[in-house]
Amino acid sequence: MDSLSTLFVMGTLQFLSTLFVFAIGLAVLVVVVLFILDVSQTGDAVRRNFPVLGRFRYLFSMLGEFFRQYFFAMDREEMPFNRAEREWVDRAAKNKDNTVAFGSSKSLTPPGTAIFVNCPFPTLSEDASEVQPLEIGPYCREPFQAPSLFNISGMSYGALSTPAVRALSNGARMAGCWLNTGEGGLSPHHLEGGCDIVFQIGTAKYGVRNENGELSDEKLREVAAHPEVKMFELKMSQGAKPGKGGILPGIKVTPEIAAIRGIPAGKDSISPNRHPEIDNAAEMLDMIGRIRDATGKPTGFKAVVGAFGWLETMCREIHKRGIESAPDFITVDSGDGGTGAAPMPLMDNVGLPVKEALPLVVDILCKYGLRERIRVIASGKLITPSEVAWAIAAGADFVTSARGFMFSLGCIQALKCNRNTCPTGITTHNKRLQRGLNPESKAVRVAGYCTNMIHEVEVIAHSCGVRRPRLLRRMHVRIVQDNGRSVAMDELYPCPQTLPEYTTADAGKSVEAASA
Ligand SMILES: Cc1cc2nc3c(=O)[nH]c(=O)nc-3n(C[C@H](O)[C@H](O)[C@H](O)COP(=O)(O)O)c2cc1C
Repeated sequence: MDSLSTLFVMGTLQFLSTLFVFAIGLAVLVVVVLFILDVSQTGDAVRRNFPVLGRFRYLFSMLGEFFRQYFFAMDREEMPFNRAEREWVDRAAKNKDNTVAFGSSKSLTPPGTAIFVNCPFPTLSEDASEVQPLEIGPYCREPFQAPSLFNISGMSYGALSTPAVRALSNGARMAGCWLNTGEGGLSPHHLEGGCDIVFQIGTAKYGVRNENGELSDEKLREVAAHPEVKMFELKMSQGAKPGKGGILPGIKVTPEIAAIRGIPAGKDSISPNRHPEIDNAAEMLDMIGRIRDATGKPTGFKAVVGAFGWLETMCREIHKRGIESAPDFITVDSGDGGTGAAPMPLMDNVGLPVKEALPLVVDILCKYGLRERIRVIASGKLITPSEVAWAIAAGADFVTSARGFMFSLGCIQALKCNRNTCPTGITTHNKRLQRGLNPESKAVRVAGYCTNMIHEVEVIAHSCGVRRPRLLRRMHVRIVQDNGRSVAMDELYPCPQTLPEYTTADAGKSVEAASA
């Protein structure tokens, strides 16, 4: 028995040592092959000069993308969203305690920082009042009483996965906010939750196009027949890619998505870079009027602002045609907005950020007496209560967010939305990766994020001494300047007087009265 076990141990040791020698030999062989490949190639200087070793550079920069987030980046450092912002959304979504200990990790000195002007006599809880619904599209056959201040921005079914859209639809119903379809058409998953829906019409008119790819009134009427669809948004441009149409890589164009969009499956889905039939402000108003007539529902447009003279031209044209011809809302998107996929130069450096564009658009509407007629929706990195409160104070009636709601679904900012490999299942059609996203539990988080957001915007409003968020004004915010001192936002962006010839346009209603 003893000699048997000795034999067994010896045999095992011999096998392991042979395996070890074989593994070392294989490793040496791999290194030799890589060495020969590296020195003989001419495309990569680092690998040619430092064969084999040069390969670690690429490995480490790939791994750095993952490890930075966990080990190296400080709470307020990362882009597009830092850890402090992401964690606020995460805790709000999970309805967890969202208080922080010890003191703020946010520096208040960088120029552009907004500081709210707290009132020595804040609003008592018993004097506070809730956000009220606000009417959009008073001249339509079916105006929309929009209940929520904070809503879900356009993200197409295609860019988003099936479980993500289902979770958003159910979560939006629970929170009472709207869900914008993005430019990929209306799917049964958008309708599943029974929430309010804004149908977006992109340049390719997905979901409402005829065989020639042109806008079809018949299809518009079919979409509008869904009682959940409350408004139509004509997408003129998007912050992340102004002047470029939507891009959905072929790998994400499944047969279902292709059928909803009316395009071939498996091929890149690229929208035109502009609505071919809209070449100026007047033609845009024509198109808005046509959609509103066909659907009977409020119709507005989404744009990122760069040049802005055209907005003044639009306002003058509205007065020529009559105030009913105005868009019912304008969504002002930020130059640093998000996307499923976009070219980096457009994403980085084209289009004004919402911090500059929003006051500018609101002021143009004030100047032409259209501030009450046209509702203003703001989007672009407005994912925490202070950002949303800033937008409302600057003049927005509503705020929408895309990436904020993605975080509430569990997004970890892996930056893979364009590759079908999203590790959280939000922007992939890979069934295995989608398994991690449970639509039922994530819907509760979507709702939690929205309701906690509104609650904390109310907290800021009360601290500033007003009873509800829509009473926040520019005078309630100071903006830090280069010299480190802050200046009141109403000094930086004084609201202009309405031009005398247009003073009756808003029928004398003040913004405050209408928002009350
Ligand atoms: C995955 C993804 C898909 C998007 N798809 C659309 C779209 O179809 N139409 C659109 O107008 N905007 C689209 N956007 C832009 C958002 O609606 C929004 O304008 C922008 O991201 C700014 O908001 P945020 O900073 O809260 O994300 C998309 C954004 C993301 C992240």
